[in-house]
Amino acid sequence: MTGFAAAAGALSVEAVGVSMRFGDVVALDDVSVRVEAGTMHALLGENGAGKSTFVKCLMGFHRMTAGQIVVGSREVDVRDPRAAHAHGLGMVYQHFTLVPSLSGAENMVISRERVPTVIDWQAERAALARFVDTMPFTAPLDVPVQRLAAGERQKLEILKQLYLGRRFLILDEPTSVLTPGEADELLGTLRDLTRSGRLTVLMITHKLREVSAFAHVVSVLRQGRHVGTGRVADLDHGSMAAMMIGEKTVRAGTERGNAVGSVGLRVQDLRTPDRTGRKEIVIDSLSVRSGEIVGIAGISGNGQTELMEVLTGQRRPQSGGIRIDGRSYVPSRAAVHATGVRCLPEEPLRNACASRMSLAENLAFRTFDRTVDGRRRFWLDRPALRSRARDLAARFRIHAASVEHPMASLSGGNVQRAVLARELTGTIRVLIVANPCFGLDFAAVAEVRSRILTVRNSGAAVLLISEDLDEILELADRILVMSEGRIVHETARACADAAVIGRHMAGRP
Ligand SMILES: Nc1ncnc2c1ncn2[C@@H]1O[C@H](COP(=O)(O)OP(=O)(O)OP(=O)(O)O)[C@@H](O)[C@H]1O
Ligand SMILES: [Mg+2]
Repeated sequence: MTGFAAAAGALSVEAVGVSMRFGDVVALDDVSVRVEAGTMHALLGENGAGKSTFVKCLMGFHRMTAGQIVVGSREVDVRDPRAAHAHGLGMVYQHFTLVPSLSGAENMVISRERVPTVIDWQAERAALARFVDTMPFTAPLDVPVQRLAAGERQKLEILKQLYLGRRFLILDEPTSVLTPGEADELLGTLRDLTRSGRLTVLMITHKLREVSAFAHVVSVLRQGRHVGTGRVADLDHGSMAAMMIGEKTVRAGTERGNAVGSVGLRVQDLRTPDRTGRKEIVIDSLSVRSGEIVGIAGISGNGQTELMEVLTGQRRPQSGGIRIDGRSYVPSRAAVHATGVRCLPEEPLRNACASRMSLAENLAFRTFDRTVDGRRRFWLDRPALRSRARDLAARFRIHAASVEHPMASLSGGNVQRAVLARELTGTIRVLIVANPCFGLDFAAVAEVRSRILTVRNSGAAVLLISEDLDEILELADRILVMSEGRIVHETARACADAAVIGRHMAGRP
């Protein structure tokens, strides 16, 4: 058979009394949420509240400890993702699952449940064209996926889900890799699909703005429990935030001191090929003074990742180099220690953690071979390691069952907090961070930004690479824009104009 399974329309899905335990960790406790057919339903909650666990139960990635799932009016057994798919449920992951070297059309056809051994591409293409004709939006189908922008890939993911006949679609933080414009377009598309009765959407997000602008209904989880569901039209941001965090208070912002010193970090004459090997990253000169935050704005994929890799020592540049406090610097564990350089790379679970080691061990990475007074030590002081970890976990509000649990069992936002806790303590000369608030809940965002300002005020040179322009505008003293591997624009904080910066980001100055 060619073509797609014609979807009969949006599905309702109800979770009844869902509980999920991992050993003695209760991730979900008796959660009942009904998502009505043809609605866009947002799922809110602090880092570690259980959002990802909840949707993984719906999709059959976890076998829930207790509870039922009702699809339409029937109780169903989602024992694995295949079963969930068969019932019309689908999920779009935060990290793309499309095969980069294949085109959109090829990706769609090969992801069908039953793909014939010999594919009749002509017939498949015709069927695909007929399917796309019935869609209110489209995405490039004939170019390799790796050449598409993040927003286009995300749309292709959704097109693929519809092509596969999904009628209930789950998205876990779908807009975190998109620009604000792309995010609005994507969410608008999803809302139109729900309105037309084609699809039901359950979307996890940390952005209250997106909830009020696009969702019809919102449910909130707190510490594994369902604390409420309501119509978005009846709720303002204050009440949604209060449902999320309960009685806790959000840390107040930090004042910006002004005492700029000598150059702490300098990158000079840097040349390195980009990931695809087709373009070059060229940075003639980039310097950050102590007591200054330099923000690099840019749409992902314009050389920021490669720059970060050079700065953290994961990539050897073709030419050029780094200087810290005027001295040549080649990133290594010893050099990092001697110079007080701290880094928060992208995808911290992969790039800055040992995911199978415990939270305590990961928190100690920089210090486990040092005594309190900084001398080298040759054996591990386990109790001290644990008590230091507990202290850091409390100060940075890292939510984990215990510091002995493996890093990989932490929720996304808590991995981020753990790496920040490690990198933002001690004496810091130079701080290099990429998207520090990626995946954090709003209270944690306020807290982390305030800590970055504190580090700056204490005299560190801070390089902040971020795809979130609002974050750059809030934190940076000086703003650079990176596009096509180069710094294409520079402005001081006082003269920063978001519209001008946005145009440079898009390559249309
Ligand atoms: N495989 C696992 N083993 C042990 N504990 C787990 C596992 N997966 C999740 N947990 C725990 O379940 C709780 C909820 O995690 P979950 O990932 O669902 O949170 P979340 O709401 O998605 O948070 P975030 O906003 O940070 O992504 C956390 O305390 C986490 O440590
Ligand atoms: Mg999550």
